[in-house]
Amino acid sequence: MKNDTEIFRADADLVSQALQEYIDQSRAKEAPVITQKPGEYLAELLQLDDLVTGGGLTGDRLKQFLGDYLANTTRLHHPGYLAHQVATSHPTGALGAFIDATTNNPMAINEMGPAAASIEYFMVNWMLKKVGWTTVPTPRQLDPASDHAAGVLTHGGSLANLTALLAARSAMVPDFWQEGNPGNLVVLVPEQSHYSMKRSVAILGIGEKNCLSLPADKDGRVLADKIPALIDQLTADGKRVIALVANACGTAAGLYDPLPEIAQVCRAYNIWLHVDAAHGGGALVSEKYRYLVKGIEQADSIIWDAHKMLRTPSVCAAVLVRNHRHLDQAFAQEASYLFHKKDQPGFDFMSRTVECTKAGLGLRLFMTLAAMGERGLEDHVNHLIDMAKQAAVYIAKQNDFEVAIPPETNILCFRTTRHNGEYDNEDIQLEIRRRLLEKGDFFISTTLYRGNRWLRLVFMNPVVTLEDIEELIAEIRQIKASL
Ligand SMILES: Cc1ncc(COP(=O)(O)O)c(C=O)c1O
Repeated sequence: MKNDTEIFRADADLVSQALQEYIDQSRAKEAPVITQKPGEYLAELLQLDDLVTGGGLTGDRLKQFLGDYLANTTRLHHPGYLAHQVATSHPTGALGAFIDATTNNPMAINEMGPAAASIEYFMVNWMLKKVGWTTVPTPRQLDPASDHAAGVLTHGGSLANLTALLAARSAMVPDFWQEGNPGNLVVLVPEQSHYSMKRSVAILGIGEKNCLSLPADKDGRVLADKIPALIDQLTADGKRVIALVANACGTAAGLYDPLPEIAQVCRAYNIWLHVDAAHGGGALVSEKYRYLVKGIEQADSIIWDAHKMLRTPSVCAAVLVRNHRHLDQAFAQEASYLFHKKDQPGFDFMSRTVECTKAGLGLRLFMTLAAMGERGLEDHVNHLIDMAKQAAVYIAKQNDFEVAIPPETNILCFRTTRHNGEYDNEDIQLEIRRRLLEKGDFFISTTLYRGNRWLRLVFMNPVVTLEDIEELIAEIRQIKASL
C-alpha cells in the first residue's frame, strides 16, 4: 500500500507525462485548438458527481480524468491559438505554479513564505528597473524619508488597476477613506480603456458616471493637446479631476497613447497619471520596441501583466508606483493579528494589497525568466510583435481583406471585404469566427474598433508562423464562399 507522498510522486509523473504529450500534440495541430461542448455533457464526461462523492482520483482514474479534461481544453500551445491576451505559458513557469500550489505559501506576510516573498520582492524590483524607477532599497526597511518606487504582485490586471486607482484616490483625496466621496471627483480614461477601469472607478465609490472619456484621434489614441480644454471645462463645472489613465496599449487594437505629452498635462494640472500597461508593458523588455512606452517613467502608477506578453502562466500582474508611500498609504487599515511590529528578515506585502491569502505569483514569472533568460524573453516579445507586423503586411496585400491599422504591437485587427472594396458587415465577421471555431483549426477573437466589427488576432504563441496565417486566410475565404 502506497502512502500519500508515494501516490503524489506517481500521480505527478503521470500528470507531467500527459502534459508533455498535450503540449506536443497541440503544437503539432493533432487536436482542435478549441472545442465547445455543453457544460452538462462535460460534467458527465468528467464524472464530476461520482468523483466528488466517492473520491479515488488517482492512478488510472486520474489518467482517465486528465485525458478527458485535456481533450476539452482550449489549447494555447496550438499554432492556431490567436484569440486572447493570455500567454502560451512557458513549461518551466508552469512548474513554478505547481511548486507554489504544493508548498502553498501565501507569502503576503513574510512568515508565511520567506522564499516566495523574497522572489516577489526581487521580481518587483526587476520590473521597476525595466520602467526606469528606483528599486526598493532593502527588504527589511522602508525608509519613510526616501521617495523610492514600489510595487506588489496581484491576481490579475483588473485587481492591479483597482489597486492603482485606490493609490491615486488616497494620494489625491486623503480623507476619502474615512469621510467618503466629496461628490465632485472625476477620472478621465481613454475611449478604448479596458472595462476594469470603469469598474474600478465604480467600486472605489467615485461613480461610473464620473469616469469620462478622454478626447481621441480617429484611430482612438488619446489626443493630449485637447485634454487641457476638457479639464478647464470640468473645473469650471465644479468638478475635480483626480486621475487620468493612458493606455500602453489599448485592448482592442493594441495602440499606445502618447505618454510624454499626456504626462506633461498631468504635471501641469497636478493630476495622477496611471498607465495601463497590462498588455503592452511587454515592450519594456525589448530594446527594439521600448520606444512604444517612452515616457512611462513619468507615470505615478503603472500596471503590467506578466501573464500576457511575458509567457508567464496566469496570473501574475504587477501594480507599480513611482513613490512607495502612495501604495503604503493606500490601505489605511490595521489588522492586529497581521500588522504588528515584528523582527523578521524579509518584506511583508500585506499592507499593499487587497488580498490577504495571496499565491506566490512571483515564482511563475521568475521561473519563466530564469529558464529563458532576459535575452530569451526579449526575443519572445520581439517575435510576437514582428509576427503581427508581418501578418498585417500579408493580409493587407489580399484584395478581399482589409487591415484596420498597421499594428504597433502583437494585436492585429482585420476584416473581409468585397471586391468592390466595401467591407462585409458585422454579421458576416461574427459568422466567420463562429465557423472557424467550430472547425477547430483556428481560434481568433473579434472586437469593436472605430464603431465597426473586426476580426482580431493576438499573437501570444512562440510557434506561430506566417504559414499559419496564410492557412487562416485561406480557411476564411472558404468559409466566406460557403456563406
Ligand atoms: C489594457 C488591459 N488592462 C487590463 C486588463 C485586465 O487584465 P486581467 O485580465 O489580468 O485582469 C486587460 C486584459 O486584457 C487589458 O487588456
